[in-house]
Formats: sequence, structure tokens, C-alpha cells
Amino acid sequence: MTVTAVIGSQWGDEGKGKAVDFLAEKMDYVARFNGGNNAGHTVINEFGTFKIHLVPSGIFAKNTIGLIGGGVVIDPQVLIDEIEMLNQAGIGLNGRLWVSPRSHLIMPYHKILDGLYEEAKGAGATGTTRRGIGPVFADKVSYNGIRWTDFTSDMFEQRLKVQLELKNKIIIALGGEALKYESVRAEYRGYYVKLKPYIKELFSLVQEGLKTGKNFLLEQAMGTFLDTDWGTYPFVTASTTIPSAASAGLGIPPRHIINVIGVTKAYTTRVGGGPLPTEIKDYDSEVYKKFGEVAATTGRVRRVGWLDLEIVRTAVELSGVTEICLTKLDVLSGLKQIQVCSGYQMNGLPVRYADVDAYGLDKVETIYQTLPGWSEDISKAKTFEALPVNARSYVKMIEDAAGVPVKWIGVGPERDATIRR
Ligand code: GDP
Ligand code: IMO
Ligand code: MG
Repeated sequence: MTVTAVIGSQWGDEGKGKAVDFLAEKMDYVARFNGGNNAGHTVINEFGTFKIHLVPSGIFAKNTIGLIGGGVVIDPQVLIDEIEMLNQAGIGLNGRLWVSPRSHLIMPYHKILDGLYEEAKGAGATGTTRRGIGPVFADKVSYNGIRWTDFTSDMFEQRLKVQLELKNKIIIALGGEALKYESVRAEYRGYYVKLKPYIKELFSLVQEGLKTGKNFLLEQAMGTFLDTDWGTYPFVTASTTIPSAASAGLGIPPRHIINVIGVTKAYTTRVGGGPLPTEIKDYDSEVYKKFGEVAATTGRVRRVGWLDLEIVRTAVELSGVTEICLTKLDVLSGLKQIQVCSGYQMNGLPVRYADVDAYGLDKVETIYQTLPGWSEDISKAKTFEALPVNARSYVKMIEDAAGVPVKWIGVGPERDATIRR
């Protein structure tokens, strides 16, 4: 039996979706345990191209069962649309997807408040996805949340009434329009009817799976440095993203989480506000254009930077990464020189990520190493040996800095564009 967590070692969008898709083949269960539909995981395989927000990315493997743990927050319409979209692509989810009744629901007021909070902060805004993530987790930990289990009685109606009384006061005070009880009630009761076949307590299934030696793949959403506690607060997301979250979010004792795959982009990206020490701001440069990406959830342009080894090293330590899945090495092809940040300094002294807060991280001096690039197209490479010598050195340099092996190397967005070592 193995329990393997797949986590992003940077600020999200490292390519977790692709990794989970190709790792899922041997898995009995693939599970989401944190975050919500702020996640956008891209999967490109024989069924097509998908941007998935809630359903685990390993669902394409035909013998794999998808689980959405109680640690995940759910916008029901997004889940319904995603199930429908997958159904149309030939991925039937009936009896193959189970959603915990403990999971909290994103309500219309959460999305409204997310927007209002962001606007109030002005230039200091977090740059959230505006999916209601901060407000729904705030309600969860302040005992104001609404869960699927509430729909099995009139608890939903009782709790919604109280919440609307509170939330409408805030919304009106901030210049918004009050929500109407009956329309929200009817809308969410409708969602429950549609999603009821998928809602089931996961406890026995997970415990039984652990006892009988089943393989679990745990798919993190966001990345290590968006973690509420260890990320660049307040420029973070509202859930714990490090592997320990899988324990609470799914009901798996921590001692079972043995393998942790750190998905690491060959450079760095970030969406929204907050420090990015290696950021490239020369928007006309060749490298900026090469690294450029569009966010899978919001369509925003991702900020880009060189690979930051202090970030990767910290993620390995914090999350107990046992092996790295390096993604997007192909994107570096054609650069004459590649910069890599080997560490930080402040006032002439070495400083580590954890020694400074988000505002300090914005001011650290980055120490760069310049490495020679390669000109060959590597997108068809199938083995490590087939890579140009400078590409191999780049991979080895990451292994040395991180202290763990790079087991997979992504040379293209498709499932098969992956070198296994
Ligand atoms: P996630 O949120 O971690 O699942 O990552 P996203 O899907 O948001 O962003 C990763 C982007 O990189 C997507 O557009 C993927 O299709 C793409 N991608 C993943 N791995 C590779 C790779 O090895 N090479 C290239 N060129 N693209 C990749
Ligand atoms: P995946 O799973 C990248 C960022 C937002 C914002 C901050 C808070 O695809 O890697 P939130 O809506 O969560 O309150 O926004 O977190 N963010 C992500 N950035 N990838 C993600 O998910 C993200 N999910 C949230 O851009 O800066
Ligand atoms: Mg993403």
C-alpha cells in the first residue's frame, strides 16, 4: 500500500494536474484534500484538453475512484458543470466520484465578500481568484459554514437564514445588494438534488483502503508558498497546502503519507499579488515571452521569474518531498543563458526564506548563478540521456540543491511528454 502526495513546490500551477494524470494509472484512489475551485489543473491526454477545478485530475484512469475530501470547499455549480463536461468527454463519474458530506459550500455571499474585501484593500489586495475562498474558509473556522450534511434536514434552511441576516448587513454596508433567502435556498436545494448521488461519508472507505493496501494519490491544490501558515502571508490562499493538510482533509493519519512528489516548474510563476524574488519585469524580453502563461482558473496573465532554488529547497524541507517531478524543461530550450537563484542576502548576510516575512522577501537580494542553455528542441526526448548535456546539468543542479532525485522531467504539456528516470 502506498499513499503518495503530489504537491507544488512553488506558488501553484507547477503542473500538478499533468503529474496526477500520469501517476493515476496504478492508483485505486485519487483525492483532493484542500482548497476549492480556485485551483485550475490542466490535463492533456487521449480524451482531450481539460482545465479541472474540483474533480481529481487522476479520474481519467479507468479503475481509479475520485474522492473530494472534507477539506475541500465546493462551489456546487462548478462541480455540476465539471461532472457534465467530463461525462461528455466519455468519463462517466457515476459510482466513481465521492464527495465528503463534511465539505463546505461556497455560497453567493462568499463570492461577493471576496470581491468587496479585495476592493477595500486597493493596492494591497491579495489578487484572489474571487471564487469566495477566503470568506468560505473564514466561515468554516468560525462555525458559520454550511456543509452538505446540513441538507439532510432543515439545518440548511436554519443556518442559511442566520447567515443571510449577518452577511446581508455587511454587503449592504459595503454598497452591495442584499441576497434573497428564497432564491438562494431554492438554488442550493436544486444543487443538492443533482449532487446527492455523489455525496457519501468517506471515513470507512478510506480506512478500509488503508487496511487492505490500496494505493492513494493525494492531489494538492495551490502550492507550498500559498499555504496560509508557511506561504507569503497575506498573499496566500485560505487553506493549508502542505501534505499534512491531507491528513485532516481526508482522514488519513500522517504516518501513512510516505511519498511526497514535489512538482517543480523549471522556472517560476505566480498569479496575483505578493513577493516573487526572481521576477522578470522586462516585458519585452525574449525570456518573459517564453515563460508567459495564462491562468487556468481566471485567465489572468501569470507573473514569471527564474527558478528560485531557495524556494524549492524550502518546499522540500517543509513538505518532506521525497522526489521531484520537474515540469516545463522544454520551455527553456533556445535560451543562451539561464539564470538560477541560489539563495538570498540581506545587508550582506545570507538569509533564508523562513527568516523574512512577505514584505521582507520583496526586499531580499537574490544571488544568481548563470548557466549555459541549449538550443535543441527537447519536446520529443524520451530518455534523460537524449537530453542535451546542458539540460542534463540543469536537472542535476536542481537535484544537488534540493537533495532529492528528479524522477520525472516534463518536456511538453501532454501526458506522454514526460521522461521517467
Ligand atoms: P497545476 O495547477 O499545477 O495543475 O498547473 P496548471 O495546469 O495551472 O499550469 C501548468 C501549465 O503548464 C499548463 O498549461 C500545463 O499544460 C503546462 N505543462 C505542464 N507540464 C508541462 C511541461 O512539461 N511542458 C510544457 N511545455 N507545459 C507543461
Ligand atoms: P492551482 O491548484 C496559482 C492564488 C491567487 C491569489 C491567492 C489567493 O491551479 O495551482 P484565493 O482565490 O485562493 O483566495 O487567492 O492564491 N491562487 C493560485 N495561484 N494556482 C492556484 O491553484 C491558485 N489558487 C489560488 O492567485 O494570489
Ligand atoms: Mg493551476
